[in-house]
Amino acid sequence: MPAVSRIDSLIAAMTLAEKLGQLTMTASSFTVTGPVIAGDSTESIRSGALGNLLNMVGPEPVRQMQRLAVEDSRLKIPLLIGLDIIHGHRSLFPVPLAEAGLFDPATWEATAREAAIEGAADGLAMTFAPMCDVSRDPRWGRTVEGPGEDSYVASRMAAAKVRGFQGTDLAAPDALAAVAKHFVAYGPVTAGREYASVDVSERTLHEVHLPAFAAAVAAGAAAVMPAFTDLAGVPLTAHVPLLRDWLRGRLGFDGVIISDYNAIRELINHGVAADLVQAAALALDAGVDIDMMGDAYRQGLPEALQRGLVSMDQVDAAVRRVLLLKERLGLFDHPYGRCGTVEAPEALARRRQLARSAGARATLLLRNEHEVLPLAAPRRLALLGPLADAPGEMRGPWWAAGVAENHVSVLAGFRAALPGAQVLHAAGVGIEDAATEDAATEGTAAAGIAAAVALVEQADAVVLCLGEGAAMSGEAASRAHPVLPGRQLQLAQEVLARARGLERPAAVVLFCGRPLVIPELVELADALLVAWFPGCEAGNAVADVVLGRVGPAGRTPISWPRAVGQIPIFHGQRNSGRPENPRDHFTSKYLDVPNTPLFPFGHGLTYGRLRLSNLRLHGTVLRPGDTLEVSVDAVNEGGRAAEETVFLFTHDPVAGVARPLLELKGFAKISLAAGQRGTVRLPLRAADLAYLGPDLRPVLESGTVEVLVGPCADRSQLLAGSVEVAA
Ligand code: BGC
Repeated sequence: MPAVSRIDSLIAAMTLAEKLGQLTMTASSFTVTGPVIAGDSTESIRSGALGNLLNMVGPEPVRQMQRLAVEDSRLKIPLLIGLDIIHGHRSLFPVPLAEAGLFDPATWEATAREAAIEGAADGLAMTFAPMCDVSRDPRWGRTVEGPGEDSYVASRMAAAKVRGFQGTDLAAPDALAAVAKHFVAYGPVTAGREYASVDVSERTLHEVHLPAFAAAVAAGAAAVMPAFTDLAGVPLTAHVPLLRDWLRGRLGFDGVIISDYNAIRELINHGVAADLVQAAALALDAGVDIDMMGDAYRQGLPEALQRGLVSMDQVDAAVRRVLLLKERLGLFDHPYGRCGTVEAPEALARRRQLARSAGARATLLLRNEHEVLPLAAPRRLALLGPLADAPGEMRGPWWAAGVAENHVSVLAGFRAALPGAQVLHAAGVGIEDAATEDAATEGTAAAGIAAAVALVEQADAVVLCLGEGAAMSGEAASRAHPVLPGRQLQLAQEVLARARGLERPAAVVLFCGRPLVIPELVELADALLVAWFPGCEAGNAVADVVLGRVGPAGRTPISWPRAVGQIPIFHGQRNSGRPENPRDHFTSKYLDVPNTPLFPFGHGLTYGRLRLSNLRLHGTVLRPGDTLEVSVDAVNEGGRAAEETVFLFTHDPVAGVARPLLELKGFAKISLAAGQRGTVRLPLRAADLAYLGPDLRPVLESGTVEVLVGPCADRSQLLAGSVEVAA
């Protein structure tokens, strides 16, 4: 039957309870029959009271649940089943923040594609990803799940991830419906505190936070999830101007809007709804189609309809969108189509190889004095620190179906990479061991550090693995002190001092879900490599980079602060009427730290040495519709091959609304062997130079615009030219 008539006849045949079932999603182990969500969902599915599930995995369980819907329920409507497949399903890739630092849309898309293949083989049809939230605040734990600080990067990454998850045909057995989340401006929660209220200007909303969602929708995202948060007092779950007017109206988004976990019920806590009836009515009225875990639609909408707060047409419109998505996913015709595709071992091997190379390339080399890295293969390696033998932590805070045993620890990676060598290991301290008043505990801690230091003496090279545990970032993991936890700095001090005393090469490898505030560690460590959370091939990837078999190619997608007090810190700031001037007291600066970050956006060393020269703008005047080619010569003056990233920024020095000091407009990659030369070309379109005028409409103004090209957002490292815009 053609999709539309099938859906029309279903809607005509549905009872209200069945309609609300299609608008409800719960975890598979829960039922929605009582006032409290508990128990198992079998009966609810049979009765049509539940049409969508989350958090279940595996072809067999999915098949069983789906059978209840398509064989035992009255209308035989298939279930939509989703899971958070954020950066891999069973085979995990590097966390999104790490991947963002690759500035490589092809890799972004490829890892999402592989994740979708695995997830769909497990029976799933939807992933609650990509997360499109720009974060300029490392205190916020969810920074790890997103693209970093830059809106242009967020947009490019959102589009690539949607393409990867969904593939070219949503009905294909290996496609997942993507959910662009969390709509919108979740990143600037007050003081970096999870779930806290957000208050950003209309301009910042439109310039910084909305573009990635527009990009996800343009790429065809099947669904959007509103954020838990409120924006200036209006929770996103009930935000009519943004959900209905902007997303549905202006962008023409006709896919599904799915609430976040329990978010409709939480409208009561926000203080905008008196009860579930009102909460449900507010969300439906704003355009939210599926209620995830709140059970507010089932409990609240019948009375909301009676009270006239919402209409049956609104309920039907939401049901129609949900059924259309199920239709687009091919679920009506092939309800078990995604279950149980058995993959060839070669496919799995290829996926792990992708995880290994993405994990290795995404490492971020912050510092490499005296070219400590890569290490010449040691005969005895001291592999120290609490993250050295921690396979489960390598997953980061979201792991879908990725089990710890499927992860290569750093220790295992080095043992495999150095079969003839001795790899000595001591954790030294636990990840979060804190100083205590207790003499016995202190004695044990001191002994742990001493044991690690003793191994330095026996080894001819040292790798010290420090950082956060996986659960220290992600949801509900804000940190007021985003520093090296516990006693790890002390461990680093003692280990690195001993290594220096003995002239042993020593490198620190940092695992973390956010930039950490680590000026002391940066002073101490000659070589500092950030691995973030690399995923299933972590140990192999780290060994590949440390031993020079793969070069680090990560560039930080977010600024690293010197001090917590600098947060929020990002490259796109404005100049101020009193820009920093060391000779003038009354200028924009701190008394105690410089304004600059410890490492700027885009910073990342390689094993090569890039020199850029000869910036050329192929044209001097840019008219509406024109594209200008910007090119720059690149040479690798180092002794090893490198994958380099080159950024294109602009700055409009005189505009109706003051523009940020740097605006990212493009990036490109170039791989250069030692001594090799090349040319990097970056297109700049006139439309890229338009900005939102005082009325928030795009304007292209005539005038001179600076064009800046270089390796990171540090102005002193950028080559500058200019172009005349003739609007
Ligand atoms: C998170 C979402 C996630 C959902 C379902 C929520 O707590 O905010 O990002 O998709 O749970 O697991």
